[in-house]
Amino acid sequence: MNGRIISFLAAVIVMLMTVPVPGDAAYKPPNLTFKNSQGAVVGTFSHDFHLQIYSKCRDCHTKLYPFGNGKRMTMADMYAGKSCGACHDGKTAFTANGDCNKCHAGYKPANLTFKNSQGAVVGTFSHDFHLQVYKCGDCHTKLFPYGNGKRMSMADMDAGKSCGACHNGKAAFATNSDCNKCHVGFKPGNVTFKIGKGALKGYFSHDFHLQVYKCSDCHSKLFSYSNGKRMTHADMNAGKSCGACHDGKTAFGQKPNCAKCHRKQ
Ligand code: HEC
Ligand code: HEC
Ligand code: HEC
Ligand code: HEC
Ligand code: HEC
Ligand code: HEC
Ligand code: HEC
Ligand code: HEC
Ligand code: HEC
Repeated sequence: MNGRIISFLAAVIVMLMTVPVPGDAAYKPPNLTFKNSQGAVVGTFSHDFHLQIYSKCRDCHTKLYPFGNGKRMTMADMYAGKSCGACHDGKTAFTANGDCNKCHAGYKPANLTFKNSQGAVVGTFSHDFHLQVYKCGDCHTKLFPYGNGKRMSMADMDAGKSCGACHNGKAAFATNSDCNKCHVGFKPGNVTFKIGKGALKGYFSHDFHLQVYKCSDCHSKLFSYSNGKRMTHADMNAGKSCGACHDGKTAFGQKPNCAKCHRKQ
């Protein structure tokens, strides 16, 4: 055999013996960075750090992290105790449910806008503003599990959930009054109502009343929307609903002004 071929084969064998492979004690797995869809680094995972605590690859591989399955890790999995969440559960290690910035160092979540069904912007939420005062864990995920696909509702807020956990008139302005602080520039529609078989119609103009009043003069102490209840004259006579003002003093009373309210727009 040719000497050059022998030394080539010897070199190959030496190479195979020294190149580290997974499972080999000499192999140092890389530290990882996660990138968002724009390519910016939004998080890191350090093998070096974790291997100081977990000496065995099989503490994680492959029951928690199967190789080459091409799937991205998701927070949903972590909250369900899989992936990083198998340890990052607030017991073994800091929690994936709150300490976002320990993994997503320096990550700046976007400011949010809420749109109505016509696509018009009807409200905003500023992460920037709130992060001057709060940490991720104050809100995530006990108040806002993202990616659950549910819209927030005022009913939840008024019951002290969602934004209403703070916007309750104590920690911050209230959801049942300062509508326009969140719904900047939002113009509520005028309200028409039908009575009985539609014979006696009625009309309430937000436009007109808003020349004089603020949202908080009526909402939601006088009118809680979406409660499915009809307004009644019994209530009005008791000084509630329209009758809080339409009592013949602040504004015209019920008699003889039936037609002022019971008319079409
Ligand atoms: C604390 C848990 C943990 C331990 C311990 C651990 N790994 Fe990992 N490893 C991970 C995670 C998380 C990933 C990323 C998985 C993914 O992207 O789906 C990973 C990915 C890898 C990858 C793929 C790297 C790449 O570029 O995509 C290799 C190779 C690897 N590990 C080897 C090892 C070896 C060898 C050991 C033991 C010396 C080890 N790991 C120990 C958690 C761990
Ligand atoms: C097998 C358990 C285990 C798994 C799985 C695990 N970790 Fe950890 N991790 C720990 C422990 C324990 C600590 C140290 C205790 C602490 O900081 O609460 C830690 C600390 C960290 C730290 C702080 C130290 C540093 O490197 O700056 C980061 C960041 C981190 N883990 C990210 C991750 C990410 C991202 C994943 C999933 C891709 C993950 N870990 C999966 C157990 C684990
Ligand atoms: C233990 C580390 C860790 C913690 C703590 C953590 N994340 Fe993650 N997060 C990850 C990893 C790893 C990924 C997957 C990155 C990838 O594969 O692209 C991820 C992905 C995401 C994504 C994109 C994918 C998805 O599931 O939506 C969002 C959004 C996100 N994290 C937000 C958060 C928020 C908010 C918090 C705090 C409540 C948080 N993360 C806490 C490690 C962590
Ligand atoms: C004052 C409360 C609050 C704090 C503090 C907060 N968030 Fe949020 N976050 C929200 C709300 C509200 C949403 C929207 C939830 C929805 O649409 O259901 C949201 C949505 C998100 C989303 C999904 C929307 C997006 O931008 O892609 C991510 C990711 C996120 N937050 C990360 C973080 C991280 C990371 C921190 C800490 C640096 C943090 N948040 C701090 C309230 C908060
Ligand atoms: C963890 C508590 C907390 C939660 C949850 C929270 N906020 Fe706030 N928010 C505050 C505090 C405190 C202020 C400042 C005090 C004030 O203005 O009354 C504030 C101020 C604001 C402001 C005025 C400042 C600005 O950004 O223009 C808006 C608008 C606002 N919040 C909207 C929201 C919305 C929408 C939600 C829910 C999606 C929400 N907030 C959830 C605590 C919170
Ligand atoms: C702390 C901020 C905040 C305040 C204050 C606030 N809202 Fe909202 N409102 C929201 C958010 C956030 C949503 C959900 C938007 C989405 O997901 O589409 C919402 C949704 C709504 C909706 C549509 C969904 C539903 O539950 O009916 C109406 C109507 C509404 N708000 C009216 C009001 C009125 C009237 C007031 C004053 C009494 C008010 N809001 C005060 C933040 C606020
Ligand atoms: C003079 C009293 C009054 C004032 C002031 C007022 N509203 Fe109303 N609002 C009502 C009444 C009455 C209804 C109908 C209630 C019902 O059907 O049970 C209503 C219904 C609503 C609805 C549900 C109907 C719709 O258009 O989708 C929203 C949203 C609303 N108001 C928002 C606001 C906002 C925002 C402000 C401040 C800019 C405001 N309102 C000011 C009395 C008022
Ligand atoms: C916070 C006080 C207040 C409440 C609550 C209120 N109004 Fe009025 N409303 C007024 C005042 C003040 C005027 C103007 C003075 C007048 O005409 O006597 C007025 C005027 C009107 C007018 C005449 C102007 C127009 O829009 O054509 C109608 C109709 C009317 N209100 C209907 C209603 C109905 C229906 C309700 C209950 C659903 C209601 N209002 C609740 C204070 C209120
Ligand atoms: C300040 C405005 C206003 C005036 C004035 C008014 N109504 Fe009404 N009326 C309403 C509203 C608002 C409702 C409830 C509509 C709904 O929720 O469907 C109502 C409901 C009714 C109903 C059906 C429910 C019930 O409580 O019985 C009748 C009948 C009725 N009105 C008759 C009258 C008559 C008759 C007059 C004159 C004596 C009058 N209304 C004056 C605003 C008014």
